[in-house]
Amino acid sequence: MLIKFLSSCSFCRQFSTSSSSNKVKNSEEWHKRHIKDRFVQQSRAENYRARSAFKLLEIQDRFQLIREGNYVVECGGAPGAWTQVLTNIIGGKGRIVSCDLLLIEPIPGAITLSKTDFTHPDSQAAILKHLGGRKIDVVLSDMAPNLSGTKELDQMMTTNLVYSVITFSLMNTTAGGAFLTKTFFGEQTKRIVDDLLKFYRSVEYIKPESSRKESSELYLLARDFKGIKKRK
Ligand SMILES: C[S@@+](CC[C@H](N)C(=O)[O-])C[C@H]1O[C@@H](n2cnc3c(N)ncnc32)[C@H](O)[C@@H]1O
Repeated sequence: MLIKFLSSCSFCRQFSTSSSSNKVKNSEEWHKRHIKDRFVQQSRAENYRARSAFKLLEIQDRFQLIREGNYVVECGGAPGAWTQVLTNIIGGKGRIVSCDLLLIEPIPGAITLSKTDFTHPDSQAAILKHLGGRKIDVVLSDMAPNLSGTKELDQMMTTNLVYSVITFSLMNTTAGGAFLTKTFFGEQTKRIVDDLLKFYRSVEYIKPESSRKESSELYLLARDFKGIKKRK
């Protein structure tokens, strides 16, 4: 599956052949590219708080991941573009609990927990309290650590974040539920997928069109949670 993804994905081909493009970090150039970017323009036109909305919209379009009435937990929700997408899909019957280390300006129809470190047990307890004892249908994580610039350290921090959401999901998702996480392609990617496959019936690698080609960012979508049996 990984090999299929690597050979089919233009991002992976770039990732393996072009390290210089990854080094284009000049902020002026970044700013120029940003304002020309079609997803930035589209997000402004459609009143989304960030271009990242289009990543979730594409995934939703392809996989119908979220349904009206779902209970959804979102990790790393600031500034709130994914939360906006979620409120449009879920409507009044479900529940959306979104958290971030940063401020998330309120979004009608969602519970937003700002200044909240998802990895802290108290934060996870607060999220669960807002769900009122109901299991989660979909857990989403778009969390990204503050990158240090050291590849190995960045991969380690990203992997730690991913596993903290996986653990939370396994404990709190309803059977048949789903899990979507951002990660950055690296040595740990296959291990994460192998671990997810122990608990979910399928895992997809996704590089949305709006995810910048020069970034090693990708999303893993795990579907049809098998449930976990507690030992007696
Ligand atoms: C790419 S942004 C999310 C964008 C968001 N999906 C949207 O559409 O508006 C990644 C976010 O992850 C958050 N983050 C990183 N580590 C976190 C943690 N331990 N707990 C909560 N949020 C975290 C960052 O503060 C940042 O706002």
